[in-house]
Amino acid sequence: MYKVNENYLKLPGSYLFSTIAKKVAAFAEANPDKKIIRLGIGDVTQPLTPPIIAALHSAVDEMASAETFRGYAPDLGYAFLRETIAREDFAARGCEIYADEIFVSDGAKSDSGNIQELFDGSCRIAVCDPVYPVYVDSNVMAGRTGTYDAATGYWSDVIYMPCTEANGFVAELPKERPDIIYLCFPNNPTGAAIRRDELQRWVDYANENGCVIIYDAAYEAYISEENVPHSVYECEGARSCAIEIRSFSKNAGFTGVRLGYTVVPKDLKCGNASLHDMWARRHGTKYNGAPYIMQKAGEACYTEEGRKSIRGLVEFYMKNARTIYDGLKDMGYTVYGGVNSPYIWLKTPDGMTSWEFFDYLLERANVVGTPGSGFGPNGEGFFRLTAFGSYENSLAALERIRSL
Ligand SMILES: Cc1ncc(COP(=O)(O)O)c(C=O)c1O
Repeated sequence: MYKVNENYLKLPGSYLFSTIAKKVAAFAEANPDKKIIRLGIGDVTQPLTPPIIAALHSAVDEMASAETFRGYAPDLGYAFLRETIAREDFAARGCEIYADEIFVSDGAKSDSGNIQELFDGSCRIAVCDPVYPVYVDSNVMAGRTGTYDAATGYWSDVIYMPCTEANGFVAELPKERPDIIYLCFPNNPTGAAIRRDELQRWVDYANENGCVIIYDAAYEAYISEENVPHSVYECEGARSCAIEIRSFSKNAGFTGVRLGYTVVPKDLKCGNASLHDMWARRHGTKYNGAPYIMQKAGEACYTEEGRKSIRGLVEFYMKNARTIYDGLKDMGYTVYGGVNSPYIWLKTPDGMTSWEFFDYLLERANVVGTPGSGFGPNGEGFFRLTAFGSYENSLAALERIRSL
C-alpha cells in the first residue's frame, strides 16, 4: 500500500474560513428570514474598475486572432509587466529591485505557501501570533513544525512572536534564532503597520543572524502614514535577506481573477546557492505562467487612469474602515487597525472568547466577523472585521452592534 504525506494529517481541524462558512450556512438555513452581513473573510466586493476591464477586453480580443494570439506565458512573467512593476513599485520608491528579480504569479497565497520549498526541512520558522494561517500550515505540510499541542494551539518547532496590545501588535525580535521569519505588514489580521525604523531592525537582525525574511506586503496599498514602508526594500540591506510577496487582490480587486508577484533579489544567497535561481527553477518546473490576459490587466493598474481608479477602490474601503473603527470606538469598544489597513481588530467585550463573540454577533446581530483566536493563541479575546463590504452594510452592521 502506498503511503500518504502524513504531515497533512497533523493539521488540526479545518481551515478557519471553512469552519466559519459552515457555521454561517447552518445559521442561514435555520433562519432564512434573517439578512446576514458578512464582514468576515478578506474578500473584496467592488467590481473591477473600467481601465482594468478595458485592458481585459483588449487582451481577450488579441486572443481571437492568429497574429496576436498568445500561448504559454513566460514562466516568470511577461517583461512588460515585470518592467512596469520594477519601475513603479520599487524604483519610484527608491528601492533597488530589477525586473528580472520579479516573479509574476497567480497570487500571494500560492507564493506564500510555496516559498518554503526553497528551504531545508530542518529550518526553524518564526511567525507572528496571531498570523495569516498559510505560513504555518504550508510548513506543517512540509514537516517542518514538529508536533501540535491542541491545548496551547502551538507547534513544538515553530517560534511564535506574540503580537499584543502591549507591543502595538508589532512583534519583538525573537529570543531564539529562527532561520525563516515571516512578517506581514500592514498586518492581517491585526491591521497593525510597522514603522520604517522598526522594520530596519528586523532587516539588520536577519543579516546579522543569517535569517531570511519573507515579507508579505499584500496590503501595501492601504498604507496612509508617511513613516510606514511600502516595501521591505526601503530598508538598507534587505536585498541580502528578504523576499517580498505582493498581490493585486486587495488594491485592484483581483481576488477572483488572480495575479500577484514575488521579489527574490539576486543578492539573496545561502553559501553558493542563489535563492533567486532556485525560485526561477521552481517556477519553471511547477508553474506555466500567469495568463497573458491577467498580466495585461496588471499592467493597466499602473497607467495614470488605472492608478486613479484603483486608488478609488482603496479609498472606498478605507472610508468603511474609518466608519467601523470610529463607530465601535464610540460604542466603547477597544479598537485597533483600520488606519493603514482594511482590517479592524477589536477586543471582545465582557471577557468573551473570540468564538463566543462570533456566535453572539451572528445570532444577535446577524453580522459575521472572524474570531481572533482562529489566527493564533494571542488572537484570543479579539475579533476581526473587514472594511471590504459595502458602505451601507458597514453602517448597518454598526447599527446592529450598537443596538445589542
Ligand atoms: C496576508 C495575506 N497574504 C496573502 C493573501 C492572499 O492574497 P492573494 O489573493 O493574492 O492570493 C491574503 C488574503 O487574504 C492575505 O491576507
